[in-house]
Amino acid sequence: MELTKRARRLRSSESLRKMVRETRMDPSSLIYPIFVEENLSGSEPIEAMDGQKRYGLDALPAALNEIADAGVGAVMFFGIPAHKDEVGSGAYDENGIVQQALRLAKKEVPGLYLIGDVCLCEYTSHGHCGVLCPHRPHGESAPPYFEVDNDPTVDLLRRIAVSQVAAGADMVAPSDMMDGRIAGIRAGLDEAGYADIPVMSYAVKFASAFYGPFREAAGSAPAFGNRRGYQMDYHNRKEAMKEALTDVEEGADIIMVKPAMNYLDLVSEISQAVNVPVAAYSVSGEYAMVRAAAARGWIDEDAIICEMAAGVYRAGAGIYLTYFAKEIARFMREGRIG
Ligand code: PBG
Repeated sequence: MELTKRARRLRSSESLRKMVRETRMDPSSLIYPIFVEENLSGSEPIEAMDGQKRYGLDALPAALNEIADAGVGAVMFFGIPAHKDEVGSGAYDENGIVQQALRLAKKEVPGLYLIGDVCLCEYTSHGHCGVLCPHRPHGESAPPYFEVDNDPTVDLLRRIAVSQVAAGADMVAPSDMMDGRIAGIRAGLDEAGYADIPVMSYAVKFASAFYGPFREAAGSAPAFGNRRGYQMDYHNRKEAMKEALTDVEEGADIIMVKPAMNYLDLVSEISQAVNVPVAAYSVSGEYAMVRAAAARGWIDEDAIICEMAAGVYRAGAGIYLTYFAKEIARFMREGRIG
């Protein structure tokens, strides 16, 4: 008898399609990035990220409860300080905006898992992700330009991480792209008695135009120059592997790839190469594009959100950071995806 070879056989009903699904997702693997602003009462909309807001501390508990109720696994905090300075001191102040937010969140929404984004760019007057030093690539007589000074920056990142954990962070996530910061932060946490606190490294973070809306949201665009001296060149694959492997060696507990959509090749390759969980971050520009096209009626927003999320998990990410976390959690619960 002749055998029929049919790929469509397993697609013939919804229950069968669900049975044979290769990618399973759960809301507990979602992380929602949230903006908290010092001296703000209530919340204000972020223009380039339609539907997202900056929250004042008074408005934060309600927003966090909504996230927790949606079943989203965790929130990650970005702070917008009232004052910025050359060294970003608001980032490691024990009464800094993120530290206040963490303390409040721990008290008001105790079940929610809290992550602190560790970086200086929202807190420095110049908008770079560290402290600056003169740099003369063309010799001593040439006028200097400025670059981020790696090691003094790592010392500050370590202080940020420790202060966030002291305030209630369950995990820290450095997004600065300095060299050696995972080892530095790990050592700082261990010394402070926080050996159990995991570090999620933005290990593979590209210099990307997709961060544009975030920089509007956080007021963190660099005042001069760009971030290409520390964030990665998007042409590079080997370098991404090197960053991921180095950070695992330095003690990163989770490796993140950012942005997500254009970098799923690396999510896939890294998830096969490392023995730690891999996270992918759908950044502000990815969110903004979907919202903008949906607002014009050009795409089916819910369907696009589901397809983007499934792509990220299918590529090998076990954790997904996204501004659509609440919606995706609902789609997962409803069985629309996952
Ligand atoms: C801070 C940081 C940025 C993002 C996360 N952490 C901005 C940047 O590097 O300029 C971007 C997130 C997003 O676009 O959603 N270094």
